[in-house]
Amino acid sequence: MTKTGKQPAETAVEQNVYKIFPNDLNSKHTVFGGLVMGLCDRTALIVAERHSGRSCVTVAVDSLTFLAPAHTGETLVVKASVNRSWRSSMEIGVHVAAENSFQGDRRHVVSAYLTFVALDDDGKPTEVPPVLPKTAVEHRRFVAADERRAARLAIGRP
Ligand SMILES: CC(C)(COP(=O)(O)OP(=O)(O)OC[C@H]1O[C@@H](n2cnc3c(N)ncnc32)[C@H](O)[C@@H]1OP(=O)(O)O)[C@@H](O)C(=O)NCCC(=O)NCCS
Repeated sequence: MTKTGKQPAETAVEQNVYKIFPNDLNSKHTVFGGLVMGLCDRTALIVAERHSGRSCVTVAVDSLTFLAPAHTGETLVVKASVNRSWRSSMEIGVHVAAENSFQGDRRHVVSAYLTFVALDDDGKPTEVPPVLPKTAVEHRRFVAADERRAARLAIGRP
């Protein structure tokens, strides 16, 4: 049975905020990368669950790029939305900014693409709804996601 499609805007996380404190830092006194990666994974998972209505697991993470460091006292602002879905998998794009919450200015610090698989009650991959892009940005992401998937699957699994 084909499931009803959803527009990315319907399931996006607009703003997941995380205030940085000293215990979040690495030895260079900037934010520990693993914390940011975890934040990306958790935020993207919410989008995957909203889109599929199922429990989901991360199957692949690609193009996770640290563009700039973030510092204590700043706020990480994470946005995530689904770019495209296939049979049981979905690509979620994540954007992280570091915000000076006193002045309101933001710096782009991380971008990432994560692929999730929706699971049925037996833990097997199960069908997910199609993504229905409506805006120009959603269309651009929808097309680019298919190209990334081809590259991802070409690398394959061990
Ligand atoms: C995700 C998992 C259930 C897939 O199981 P599987 O037996 O390989 O299932 P399939 O071969 O049917 O693949 C399922 C989907 O994953 C996709 N997939 C598999 N490997 C992939 C990869 N490296 N990159 C992108 N997609 C991938 C397949 O293309 C397929 O997508 P589709 O149904 O949309 O076409 C299994 O690999 C797993 O449990 N992995 C561990 C997940 C995990 O523990 N994550 C970390 C904690 S959340």
